[in-house]
Amino acid sequence: MILSKRLQAVATLVDIGVKVIDVGCDHALLDIYLTLNNDNKCIASDINNNALDMAKKNIDKYNLNSKIEIRLTDGLKGIDVEDTDNIVISGMGTHTILEILKSHKLSNTLIISSNNDIELLRREIVNMGYYIDSEIFIIDHGKSYIIIKFMKGGNEYKEKDYILGPILKNNVEYRKYLIKQQEKILKKIPKKKIFIRLKYKINIFKLKMNI
Ligand SMILES: C[S@@+](CC[C@H](N)C(=O)[O-])C[C@H]1O[C@@H](n2cnc3c(N)ncnc32)[C@H](O)[C@@H]1O
Repeated sequence: MILSKRLQAVATLVDIGVKVIDVGCDHALLDIYLTLNNDNKCIASDINNNALDMAKKNIDKYNLNSKIEIRLTDGLKGIDVEDTDNIVISGMGTHTILEILKSHKLSNTLIISSNNDIELLRREIVNMGYYIDSEIFIIDHGKSYIIIKFMKGGNEYKEKDYILGPILKNNVEYRKYLIKQQEKILKKIPKKKIFIRLKYKINIFKLKMNI
């Protein structure tokens, strides 16, 4: 079972040997990988029946029915979250992820990879009583992804921690990527838009100096 670079990065943050809920499992590739390589037991859930049909075929193919349970449901509805250590939500938008998480009182470790608005994701999950244990930045097939492991507990965060990430703010590769993005935008801003250009120049300077 070979995973995409993105799902492989998600898998590295999952605790070894624990029970996992994979919300929005799609074809359950992550769950198959985790049971085969990380000694996990999984609940693979999805809101889409067609996705779960494919998941079932894949699970049968690897003969993993005793290790992966399939659930057709919206988010965490009807799932016994207290019986589970890690919750994985990957490949959805921040608003959907937050809706799913906020409908339950959770104490589980969360491994989250959102498609958008990572700053809001960090703020909201920290407000739910979590701290950021790990962050991974990867580029897979030309697209960038951030995967974050949140654990129950508190920590003091500054603005920069929410915007760039308390761990990623010191990641050279990530800052280089952001500088390139900002420079691309700056190039497209007409010369007469002095103040907007200045804002981008300051951002680039801060990223370069790591301040
Ligand atoms: C882009 S796929 C990501 C699949 C996989 N988690 C990954 O990272 O590759 C998003 C999946 O989330 C499912 N999904 C979307 N909203 C959901 C919800 N509220 N509850 C459960 N599954 C949901 C979709 O049906 C789809 O299979």
